[in-house]
Amino acid sequence: MHALRSDAYLYDMNEISANESSDIRREIRFVLNSETIAIETCSPSDTLLDYLRLKKRLTGTKEGCAEGDCGACTVLIGRIVNGVLRYETVNACIRFLPSLDSCHVVTIEHLMRGDKLHPVQEAMVTHHGSQCGFCTPGIVMSLYALWMQNPRPTQSEAKRALQGNLCRCTGYAPIIRAAMAVSCDPERDVLTVERDRIRDRLAQLDDGRRVEGDGFTIPADVDDLGAVLGEVPNATVIAGSSDVGLWVTKQFRDISPAVFIGHLDGLRGIELSDDAMEIGALVSYSDLWPVFEKVLPQAIPYLSRIGGAQIRNMGTVGGNIANGSPIGDLPPLFIALGAIVYLRHEGGVRSLPLEQFFIAYGEQDLRAGEFVEKIHVPLPRADAILAVHKISKRKDEDISALTAVFYIGLEGEKIASARVACGGMAGVPKRATHLEDALIGAAWSEDSLRDAAKALSSDFEPLSDARASAEYRMTVLKNLVVRTYVDATGGVV
Ligand code: FES
Ligand code: FES
Repeated sequence: MHALRSDAYLYDMNEISANESSDIRREIRFVLNSETIAIETCSPSDTLLDYLRLKKRLTGTKEGCAEGDCGACTVLIGRIVNGVLRYETVNACIRFLPSLDSCHVVTIEHLMRGDKLHPVQEAMVTHHGSQCGFCTPGIVMSLYALWMQNPRPTQSEAKRALQGNLCRCTGYAPIIRAAMAVSCDPERDVLTVERDRIRDRLAQLDDGRRVEGDGFTIPADVDDLGAVLGEVPNATVIAGSSDVGLWVTKQFRDISPAVFIGHLDGLRGIELSDDAMEIGALVSYSDLWPVFEKVLPQAIPYLSRIGGAQIRNMGTVGGNIANGSPIGDLPPLFIALGAIVYLRHEGGVRSLPLEQFFIAYGEQDLRAGEFVEKIHVPLPRADAILAVHKISKRKDEDISALTAVFYIGLEGEKIASARVACGGMAGVPKRATHLEDALIGAAWSEDSLRDAAKALSSDFEPLSDARASAEYRMTVLKNLVVRTYVDATGGVV
C-alpha cells in the first residue's frame, strides 16, 4: 500500500518539505495530470500502471501484456532535460513509481477538456480508428506524442510511432489515416497551455537531494551514485526498466535494494568527434536516432527494429550493455566497431574492450560498486562496409533470434580487414574470430564469402530455444555472410 499525500495542483512546497533532513528526502514527488503527488512509502517494484488503475482509478490506461509489448498502457512522461521540458511515451506496466520523481505523468484522462475530445481523439473517431477500444487509449497517447513532435507526419513516420501499439481488431490503415489527419489548434491542447506552469512546478519538485525510500535510493547525481553503490554494491541498478520491469511483472522477483538512475543527466551526453562517438550510459535508443542518422546511417534500419517508440524512449545504451543479455541489440554493433566501455566506481574509472566485458552467460566483468559510465565507439571508415542484420519472427517490436554485424575493409579485390560480431549465437554477444580469419585475405566475391562462412561452425554452437532452433540460427548466419556481399554489390539473392 502507498502512504500517500496528494492535493490540488499547487501543493504547498513548505508542507511537502517538512520533517526532512537537509540532504536526504524521504518521499517521491511527481505531478500526475494536474495533481501534485507525494508518496512517502512505496516499494521499488510498484508499477505506475497499478498505481494509476488501482490507487487513482484512472482506468483509461489499460493493461494488456504487462511486459512492454502491446502499448495498451502507454502514458506520457514529462521531464526537464537540460532546461527543456520534454515529453515521451512509455509503457506504464514496466515503469516503477520511484523512477517518476520530479516528472509529469500524463494519462489519457488529461487530454479531454470537460466532455470535449482532444483533436487526436476526434481524428480517431472521424477516421474510424477504433473498434473494441481496448488499445485505443494507448494509441491515442502515441499519436498525441507524435503530434507534439511532428504535427505533419508522413505515413512511414506514423507507422514508426505506432510500432509499439498492438491493435487486434481495427487494422492499422484507419489509425494511420487518423495520425496524418490530426489538426490541432495549440490553444485546445492542454500540455501547450500549461507548459510553463508544469516546467516551473517540476523545477520546484527537483530539489537536488538524494531520495531514500523503503528498499530503494534515488541518487542526487552521478558522484552520489558512486557513493550509493559503494554502500550497497549488490543493488539492482534501474535505468529505463525495459528489462528489469519484466523481472517484476513476469518473474515476480524482489528487486530491492534498488537504485534508480534514469534521471542522472550526467550520464546522458553524446560527444561526437571526427572518428568516434562517446555515448553516456543513460542515452536512450531514441536519443541515438538523430546521432545515427548523422554518423551511422547504416544502422538506422536496425535501430528501428528495437522495440517500439515506448521501449526506445525507455531503454538505454548502458542498460543494454550492463544486463549482459546474449541477444541485446546494441553490443554486436558496438563490438564490431571496436568499442571501449568505461566502468566507474566511487574511486575511479577503468576501461576495457566491450567484447571482454561479456564473460559468460549471466556473467559480466562488472565489479562490486561499479556501473557503466559511457562507451567509446569508433566510427566506421567511409570506404568500409558495415552491414547490420537482425533476424526475428516479427518485424516490429520483437526480440532477436540472432543479430550479426559485419565490418569489412577492402583493398582492391581482396578483404583487408574484418570484424564480425553476433548476438543469439552463444551465451554472450561474441566475435566470430574464425570467420574473421577466413575472410581476411580472401577475394571479395560471393563464392569466397560462401566458402569463408563455413568457419562459423568453429565459432558458434548455438542453442535451440523458443525463438529459433540451433540449425536455423547457423544456417541463417551463414546466409547473412553471403547477403552482406550481395547487398554491398547491389546484387539479388
Ligand atoms: Fe502491454 Fe504495458 S500492458 S505494454
Ligand atoms: Fe480492438 Fe484495437 S480496437 S484492439
